[in-house]
Amino acid sequence: MWSDYYAFDDDAREVRFLRPDMPQPWMNYLSNGDFHVMISQAGGGMVWYKSPQIWRITRYRFYNLPMDRPGPYIYLRDAEDGSVWSPSAEPCPTRPDEWSSAHGLGYTRFVGKRRDISASVTYFVPPGVDALIWRVKLRNDSDRARKIDVFAYVEFSLMEFLREVQWQCYVKHQLTVKHDGAFDGLVYHYGANMQLKPNETPDVFFAADSALTGWDGNRDVFVGAYRSEEGPAGVEGGCKNSELAGGDACGALQKAVDLAPGEEREIVFYLGVARDAADAASRVAALREPGAIEKHWIALGEAWKSKLNVFQASVPDEDASRELNWWNPYQVERNFLFSRSISYYAAGFRGVGFRDTAQDIVAMTSLDTAATREKIHVLLAEQWQDGHCNHTAYPVEGFPSDQRKFSDDHLWPILTVWQWIAETGDESILSDRVSYFDGGDGDVYEHLCRSIDFTKANMGSHDLPLMLYADWNDAMNKVGQGGVGESVWTAMQLGVVLPKLAEIAAARGDEVTRNDALAFGVALTDAVNGAGWDGGWYRRAFMDDGHILGTHDARQAQIFLNTQTWSVYSGMGSDERKRLSMDAVAQYLDSPLGIKKAHPPVTDYPTPENPLFAYLPGLGENASIFCHANAWAIIAECLLKRPERAWKYYHQLIPHVAMQNAGIERYMGEPYAYASNLFGPDSERFGLANVTWLTGTAAWMYLAVTEYILGIRPEWEGLRIEPCIPQEWPGFKATRRFRGCTYTIEVVGGGATVESMTVDGMGLEGAFVPHVADRETCEVRVVVTTGA
Ligand code: NOJ
Repeated sequence: MWSDYYAFDDDAREVRFLRPDMPQPWMNYLSNGDFHVMISQAGGGMVWYKSPQIWRITRYRFYNLPMDRPGPYIYLRDAEDGSVWSPSAEPCPTRPDEWSSAHGLGYTRFVGKRRDISASVTYFVPPGVDALIWRVKLRNDSDRARKIDVFAYVEFSLMEFLREVQWQCYVKHQLTVKHDGAFDGLVYHYGANMQLKPNETPDVFFAADSALTGWDGNRDVFVGAYRSEEGPAGVEGGCKNSELAGGDACGALQKAVDLAPGEEREIVFYLGVARDAADAASRVAALREPGAIEKHWIALGEAWKSKLNVFQASVPDEDASRELNWWNPYQVERNFLFSRSISYYAAGFRGVGFRDTAQDIVAMTSLDTAATREKIHVLLAEQWQDGHCNHTAYPVEGFPSDQRKFSDDHLWPILTVWQWIAETGDESILSDRVSYFDGGDGDVYEHLCRSIDFTKANMGSHDLPLMLYADWNDAMNKVGQGGVGESVWTAMQLGVVLPKLAEIAAARGDEVTRNDALAFGVALTDAVNGAGWDGGWYRRAFMDDGHILGTHDARQAQIFLNTQTWSVYSGMGSDERKRLSMDAVAQYLDSPLGIKKAHPPVTDYPTPENPLFAYLPGLGENASIFCHANAWAIIAECLLKRPERAWKYYHQLIPHVAMQNAGIERYMGEPYAYASNLFGPDSERFGLANVTWLTGTAAWMYLAVTEYILGIRPEWEGLRIEPCIPQEWPGFKATRRFRGCTYTIEVVGGGATVESMTVDGMGLEGAFVPHVADRETCEVRVVVTTGA
């Protein structure tokens, strides 16, 4: 039963874990935007600063056994019997008598009790402070005096992860861990030669709120030979005050605590970055100021409250309510920060994926308009003068970008910028100047126009865009290697972005570009409905050798999800074809756990020697339930005004619901963070969640539920309110902060037809609330019905 494993505390916006041994680590991210921590329900995880590639502070042994090791651990040694345990349960074999942990928004907490000593530790990274705070509380619940030694421990990583893997034998002899008497803490200095950015590499400090009993910087001394973090020698026998000048580094801090019966004590540890030891001393001093930690804790809560207040809805479904009001926007923000680079599934080397981040921004814009504007600049700086864009960038590290050319990357920024203007009403972004990757610069508007120029220069014989390396689906990489294969889906992507570019061009008074964009859209619509139509649904692609993907008479991969959903999203399909296509999705692709990406899976198509996918049937790109792409099915059903299907597709993939449907031992992933995909029905492991946390599913599910199911959608002139909710709903209430105005929205009834609307008591035609400058509050009442 899932309820043996976890429970949601919705008032606290927490998920609580009732046992440490989940099927796999269930992660949380603690971050202030620069200083980051990934931490599991059992205390495993790692710490890094800005880049997990070049400023990785602590080590996490990805993919190794025992799983989920190490982490920022607390050990407690009980002087009465010498036993050692941890509030996080792991990594000690001796377990607490009582235990739970919890992930909340930006923090993780462990609570344990053993032999009448209660202990809790809360980890968080405060806004504006580049440090992990470990707030330990101990209480003596026995009737006798107790002596507890508290140890805080991290295993330091070499800052540069690739060099750690490749060259640690040399590099580890270019670092030190020293005790600094000025603030009674450790300073880890990584001074390796040939670093990419040596002047920006920080020192790391590790200190407590008061005097230490002991410390160690040498892992060999603290952990001891042939031991592990399960039972370090230094915990057993006490720290030896070792420093390190070359070798395997750690940070271990010991504090002896005497507790009278009933006494409670707080001890705070800080692991942070500084320019040098002197800077570390002043940062530690600031953290030791009376009240500082409580102030930072409150600031963290306030920051999340304010961010989430942009959109809150009260809906008659507990699972949806929890997901859409905090876990989903929280995941959106964390994706925006980390792209797809570091998670339990990715060891921190993926940089900033162009298309992934462009999509993340679309969902993130309402939550942070300043950060998204900046990120748009980062992406557009990866665009070449001919209009195409690099596939992956490494802006923090300065590594060379991945320069493969895809057919979709350069088109996403049109959607991204359009959304940014819709959210803010501020067209000035179009005039921001951004350099081109291969020299020179242009304003944002020019960048967007060049995207279309590139596609126009790369069209195929069916008048569809060339596939190039691949499109949104990375696994389409065998379609167009010969330079001939074409993507029907990319044509539909243009169907979405060309009208948006036309709107942007009109705002700039550029009629030529506007008309060109619209005309190109018409030509592509013809091609999509000509060569792209298969009779019952839309085809997916044309391969170099003429094989068609997504056709009914192929042996495998007869139908793909994306071209059905995007025929609706783009508006390129006729009404009849859109309905037929989405009916085919329901008939061939929907499964008891979600919608498959394609059907049937590929094993030997188009040829046994060179099948389209290397993925096994039902896995990843080959007919898994691709959650990211499921979100487009929700949007499509909303646009078709079929609320029951839209809701079914949405609800079945809410992580907690999907986990209950699949069973916890099968699903395995976190019940609060979306997965990229679930193994599909063609796999024996049907229902296994794969690549949770960092996935475009987060962005698109958020857009699907807020903008299409609840239907509250920013447009350039104001807010559209066009819900598509189950018939049996009595309605819902929402608040939306939009351009300085708080909209209080009451939707009455269920269905997808707006029958009437009042704005501040006045009746308005349609389902659109025009923006009025300087209005601070606005009350909207919408009556929806199931009517045709
Ligand atoms: C995950 C990749 O990060 C993303 O860029 C891609 O669009 C999807 N997989 C589908 O292939």
